[in-house]
Amino acid sequence: MQNEVQTVEHVGAAGARLFVETAQQSVEARGRFCAALSGGSTPLEVYKILVNDYRDAPFWTRTQLFWGDERFVPHDHEDSNYGAARENLIRHVPIPDGQVHPWPYLADEPERSAHSYAAIVSEVLGDPPQFDLTFLGLGDDGHTASLFPGTGAVHEEGLTTVVQPEGKGTRLSFTVPLLNQSRTIAFLVQGEKKREALEATLRGEKDVEHYPAQAVEAQRLLWLTDLDV
Ligand code: 6PG
Repeated sequence: MQNEVQTVEHVGAAGARLFVETAQQSVEARGRFCAALSGGSTPLEVYKILVNDYRDAPFWTRTQLFWGDERFVPHDHEDSNYGAARENLIRHVPIPDGQVHPWPYLADEPERSAHSYAAIVSEVLGDPPQFDLTFLGLGDDGHTASLFPGTGAVHEEGLTTVVQPEGKGTRLSFTVPLLNQSRTIAFLVQGEKKREALEATLRGEKDVEHYPAQAVEAQRLLWLTDLDV
């Protein structure tokens, strides 16, 4: 399994292109497209292009949407990854409500929320649960999804986990075993502030505790970045 690094001018455009291509191929091959979105700001550029250029694409009615991680907040909270996708993508495209699967927010019960999401993932995707496409970001501290350095989350074995990184509140995340079930994983990494983490992850010593993204594998592992590394 090789890292496929593509230095691109516009990460959002490259991400949107990959989403559309993978969706079309997956629907053709298996009758549906199962995708796990990432959080943070980079995906918003992808959403904007999907809405502007692919709003009426036929694959939306065959798409199942999940999130690789979430902040443990209500869905209408400004920090919600699902909330950002709902506002900037989902409400603009014809994806059936029953095919959009946010992390459940069971107030004060993050563990139960994470376990119930694992059940939803298995119920929709089967066993083992396999995504056609998973988007991931990379934090400037090296985290990916909500697998933060120094928390041990990168070693979790289940499908989902609860993490409480310093000063980041409570996070819910897919684990490495679940992420690595994906047919294609694409990291979307944009901006000079990510250079150090990206170079350490791709070119540095193997150190998954400090660079969890090094534990991520997939049949196709793509890095879409505007950095020349
Ligand atoms: C989150 C994410 C997180 C994100 C990275 C990169 O919930 O914040 O899933 O892992 O992908 O922090 O975020 P940016 O795209 O904002 O740089």
